[in-house]
Amino acid sequence: MFLDWLTHDKEAVKRKILTEAARRKILLNPEALSILIENYDETSIESLLDKLAGRAGELGSSHVVSGEMVAQLVGNRARSEVSIGVHPQVLAKDVEAKIEVLKMYEAKPFSDDLEAKRQYFVDRYRKISSILRSRSDLSPYYPLRKARSLPDGSEGKTIVMLYEKHENYMVVEDPETIAKIMIPKDCGRDLREKIDRLVPDSVVGVAFRVSGSKLFCRSVIFPDVPLKKIGMADEDVSVLMTSDIHFGSQKFSEKAFRRMVRWLRGGGLNEKERSQAFKIKYIIIAGDLVDGVGVYPQQEKELQVKDVGKQYEMLLEILSQIPDYIKVIVIPGNHDAAPRALPQPPIFREYVKAEANGNLLSLSNPCMVSLHGVRFMVYHGTSMEDIATFSKNASYDKPDNSMELMLQLRHLAPVYGSRTPLLTQSVDELVVEDVPDVFHTGHVHVFRSRIYKGIRLVNSGTWQERTKYQEQMGIVPTPNIAGILELKNGSFSEISFA
Ligand SMILES: [Fe+2]
Ligand SMILES: [Fe+2]
Repeated sequence: MFLDWLTHDKEAVKRKILTEAARRKILLNPEALSILIENYDETSIESLLDKLAGRAGELGSSHVVSGEMVAQLVGNRARSEVSIGVHPQVLAKDVEAKIEVLKMYEAKPFSDDLEAKRQYFVDRYRKISSILRSRSDLSPYYPLRKARSLPDGSEGKTIVMLYEKHENYMVVEDPETIAKIMIPKDCGRDLREKIDRLVPDSVVGVAFRVSGSKLFCRSVIFPDVPLKKIGMADEDVSVLMTSDIHFGSQKFSEKAFRRMVRWLRGGGLNEKERSQAFKIKYIIIAGDLVDGVGVYPQQEKELQVKDVGKQYEMLLEILSQIPDYIKVIVIPGNHDAAPRALPQPPIFREYVKAEANGNLLSLSNPCMVSLHGVRFMVYHGTSMEDIATFSKNASYDKPDNSMELMLQLRHLAPVYGSRTPLLTQSVDELVVEDVPDVFHTGHVHVFRSRIYKGIRLVNSGTWQERTKYQEQMGIVPTPNIAGILELKNGSFSEISFA
């Protein structure tokens, strides 16, 4: 598809140049035509041909344009920095990049034995307990073992990890013991809704009452995030947020993706679009850069490019056309060439040679990165499948609800042992210890954005059309949309490149 498209695109470019040349009554010799095709930029081709027509007239060259004449003009344009289609009034280009990687994971040896697993869950419990204690009044507090032995009628609070959820009771645990907490029939809508949203292995506070030697739930306290002001920067630059390119898939929307790259180079339809593009200083790609190979059974039947190395090579070729003042930050998703379990270290260096591509920064999934002081928590979002399974109000078409729940539970992938592979080393790196300004995910291929407690949530959609698997699952993707966040005022917009 890639090569077909290139050929097709070149033909269209050639036709456009010849038509415009004919309108100006000039003839292009083969060399001139070839240079114009190579340096084609739709925003400036017409003015370039105007100049060539003028030059041909001046030289009395019978309106025949030579390769040398074109080369001279293109060379001049290159020196004035417009030949690659970058508008001379670029704003982001003049702003120095300010990137700080605040949190990221490198591959490291780990033990997956029972003791490491135990330590992992204790670490999760300890970290989220400490968030809960700092955010809520948990007095009088009792560990679960103590709570069970309180006299009838006592009330108190405890911190638990959910083991199982049933209609009338929850099985919960803390590092010492396991217990049942009954859900009263008349518990009220608010509590019922909160319990319905809970997912296994999440850590929450519970206010309880002892009755007839049983613990009854009175309320559930989410660790949650504090309400904060929307994070903003001093510099007037923007971030383009996207994900799930799935290069190599037969369903990859190559035309739309290239349209976006052209838009970044100044190919917008009008001045407004162009000035919006020129403010882009960063692009964040939240995983699934390529479709990968062997990710699911019989995937090869749906692949256009069947070699993972080629997939990256061809994608990076397109990304290299993005103006180099734009920094591109990438993290792996479940389709990328990286270990599958979370947290994922950066994509294997042999595929994304970041150092060879000056404007590319390859980070882990998840990671936290500051751009001009605005903190982005970037996470591919694989655990949304589990959250959609276990939590009411979360679904594939509303990823923002899953994102909100992750923040409320202060964990990116709470459910252990279901669809999302988790690396159970001795510490749990997926606890949301630091609150971001922007929370950016992908994976479910549905574009959604809103604000939760001053945090901009963005699930950035995809560049892949609907697959057979998505048809079976009833998922309707929203491809070819990019989100743009202006760092100076926090305003957010979406642009469709369909
Ligand atoms: Fe994806
Ligand atoms: Fe994914």
